[in-house]
Amino acid sequence: MTDERRTKRMLDLAARVAWRAWGDTDPNPLVGCVIAREGGRGDEIIGIGHHRRFGGLHAEREALADCRRRGHDPKGATLYCTLEPCRHVGKQPPCTEAVIEAGIARVVYARRDPGHESGGGCAVLETAGVESVCSDASMLATRLSDPFICRVRENRPWVIAKWAQTLDGKIATRTGESQWITGPLMRRRVHRLRSRVDAVLVGSGTAAADDPMLTARDVRRVRRVATRVVLDTGGRLSHDSALVRTAGQTPTVVVTASEATFPASVRVLRVGRGGDGVVDVTEALGRLWTELGVASVLVEAGPRVLGSLLQAGLIDEAFVHIAPMVLGDAEAMSVAVGRTAPRLTDGRRLSVVRARALGEDVELWCRRRGTGQS
Ligand SMILES: NC(=O)c1ccc[n+]([C@@H]2O[C@H](COP(=O)([O-])OP(=O)(O)OC[C@H]3O[C@@H](n4cnc5c(N)ncnc54)[C@H](OP(=O)(O)O)[C@@H]3O)[C@@H](O)[C@H]2O)c1
Repeated sequence: MTDERRTKRMLDLAARVAWRAWGDTDPNPLVGCVIAREGGRGDEIIGIGHHRRFGGLHAEREALADCRRRGHDPKGATLYCTLEPCRHVGKQPPCTEAVIEAGIARVVYARRDPGHESGGGCAVLETAGVESVCSDASMLATRLSDPFICRVRENRPWVIAKWAQTLDGKIATRTGESQWITGPLMRRRVHRLRSRVDAVLVGSGTAAADDPMLTARDVRRVRRVATRVVLDTGGRLSHDSALVRTAGQTPTVVVTASEATFPASVRVLRVGRGGDGVVDVTEALGRLWTELGVASVLVEAGPRVLGSLLQAGLIDEAFVHIAPMVLGDAEAMSVAVGRTAPRLTDGRRLSVVRARALGEDVELWCRRRGTGQS
């Protein structure tokens, strides 16, 4: 097996293992690790581990522990990790220390850690005589760290949009009816997504039209309770809405540019207006991260908020649920509005991570282009 193919195989495996903890590690990254030894009859995987939950052991230490549990000595082996091993003391001691102590000969990692304190582990390893290589052989492993790197570099949460649409790209009828475009299996997917993010966000338009609860229901394990966030420039969210009435049970935030007041159970974040006169989305997202520690946001808004986010280049990932149905009505609501795009080159292109059928519908999982660089 060539070195490139071996690296891809190991890093792919590390990334797949890491995904198991999706929703449990934020604001830490998802990280997976595989320890392998090259042998005469091919590679032998002697340890696998991943970062399971915030504050828990890092992937490298999990993999080293797994290795010893299985009765192997990691001395001289290669350690494959989706993220550069950290060199700082956080909730756990530095991973570089564990790697050096174990006598690992070579470290191959998929992304450099851009953190001021945590990053730079490869230099520490090199100084200690451990060869360390950054590899982009596995797209899966490279992109795994996108949300973490986005938070560090852009000081804002990772933004995941989700919408349900017809084949002709409509997300509601001309009268605002959207429940339900897709079937029950897709709706279960949405509840699962909600159970893994820090916040679920809508605009005041969706709050008024659908009166949603935005909670995660009928999921096996709610990994984190998402704060419900409403972008509401003028403070028009009804005090009788389901969101306000249940704010005592589920955290709820209204982001507004007005002086409007809400019951004490609702947290109000006052921000400025953007150029279009509505809540400044860039400021809103930045403050959700810096003031409330929101690391990931699931946007379940309608066309206006989706249009604003697209325009600002703030949609990092999208789950698009497509029903095999055509409305054929020019007045029905499109996925996103508010942009001017006379040429195809004005469109925002995403890359498809995966397409799959669920019941009668199809889910397209997309990522913003341009992420995934070291
Ligand atoms: N099929 C689906 O997946 C789906 C999902 C969600 C909604 N919908 C449908 O979409 C329709 C509602 O559409 P909508 O466009 O009114 O919903 P929306 O995008 O959720 O809300 C739009 C409103 O949010 C407020 N807002 C605050 N800051 C904003 C910003 N930076 N950019 C844009 N808007 C901002 C504005 O009202 P203020 O001026 O009051 O702040 C704006 O009118 C409903 O019929 C609903 O059923 C469908």
